Amino acid sequence: MAREAIYQQSNPDPGGDPPEDGPPSEKGVADGGEEPDRGPDPDVTLRPQRMAEMVGQQDVIERLRIAIDAAQVRGEPLGHILFDGPPGLGKTTFATVIPSEMKTTVQMANGAGLKAPRDLLPYLTNVSRGSVLFIDEIHRVPRAIEEYLYTAMEDFRIDIVLGEGVNARTLNLSLEPFTLIGATTRAGMLTAPLRDRFQIREHLGWYTRKELAEIVLRNSKKLNIDVDPTSAGVIADRSRSTPRLANNRLLWVRDYAQSKTKGNVEASVCEAALDMIGIDHLGLDKQDRNYLDTLMRVFLGGPAGLDAIAHTMNVSSDTLEDEVEPFLLRSELLVRTRRGRLATPKAFEHMKRPMPDRPL
Ligand SMILES: Nc1ncnc2c1ncn2[C@@H]1O[C@H](COP(=O)(O)OP(=O)(O)OP(=O)(O)O)[C@@H](O)[C@H]1O
Ligand SMILES: [Mg+2]
Repeated sequence: MAREAIYQQSNPDPGGDPPEDGPPSEKGVADGGEEPDRGPDPDVTLRPQRMAEMVGQQDVIERLRIAIDAAQVRGEPLGHILFDGPPGLGKTTFATVIPSEMKTTVQMANGAGLKAPRDLLPYLTNVSRGSVLFIDEIHRVPRAIEEYLYTAMEDFRIDIVLGEGVNARTLNLSLEPFTLIGATTRAGMLTAPLRDRFQIREHLGWYTRKELAEIVLRNSKKLNIDVDPTSAGVIADRSRSTPRLANNRLLWVRDYAQSKTKGNVEASVCEAALDMIGIDHLGLDKQDRNYLDTLMRVFLGGPAGLDAIAHTMNVSSDTLEDEVEPFLLRSELLVRTRRGRLATPKAFEHMKRPMPDRPL
């Protein structure tokens, strides 16, 4: 997400790494999720606190409500849940609203921060009956730790070997029954044994224009700015079907309006604000357009190899493949063929360039 430079840097995901050496964070959310020590981070202000405040993902919400109701009726912890999907679609949000619906506490961990089995211990020994342990980026949990999660999840028990050689001893710990919520952008990287230990698996998909506009309207109220539905539509159109980007765009529009138009936000102001940071009406940014421009100008629209395009643009092919191409492919501006990358007629139209004569 490095490309989303404008507000991304100032809005670190609060579901990120736990402190390296400190104790795991624990947050009581039974009271509705007061977050006194997090400061005025707009990402936190805008993040829904309850399931009812969430927009879209209604099928996911309906299934989760059933699971939560049933667990509460039985007086048992909720089954383990895995969320997967692209960045910014609500995985961390779900992981924070679920404990608040269950009126329980949540500990936040990050797969990248768990390096050795002992790193898991403070989290597991801290779980209370029915509480939630959230592991973000769970695909980054090393294999050696993953094996401890198997028994923790299935039997609420861990057998951990401490020390080495003759001094090695096994510690058998029984745990309070808890709920593990895992989040990943790379479900395919999870091993089958880990994946199968989640009773509930939910994939989060892209948001519609209507849903994004609704998010923008709701959040404009939280930010005390007056945004009309047409302006919300402009922001939604340029947000790549992603709530986090809709929020970031809205925050930029707010700054722009406060500085340039005395706080007046209307559709033309939204357009000017987003044009200024290079985001066009399809949601493409400068690098996306640069990619299409190179493909059309230098390679006549392709087919061209990824490496060739990357060399010409002087960026790494990984960056193009991971950060630029997915949205262009999804927007049907680009296709990947066996012979290389090919710009579509829609891309030529968008870039206002004539289509070359070529066999498609
Ligand atoms: N369903 C929703 N309704 C309203 N706002 C949402 C919804 N989903 C996400 N958001 C907003 O988008 C922001 C980003 O969502 P979130 O942090 O949950 O994404 P994520 O899937 O965890 O992303 P990542 O993979 O980068 O960690 C949230 O702060 C929240 O304000
Ligand atoms: Mg997250």
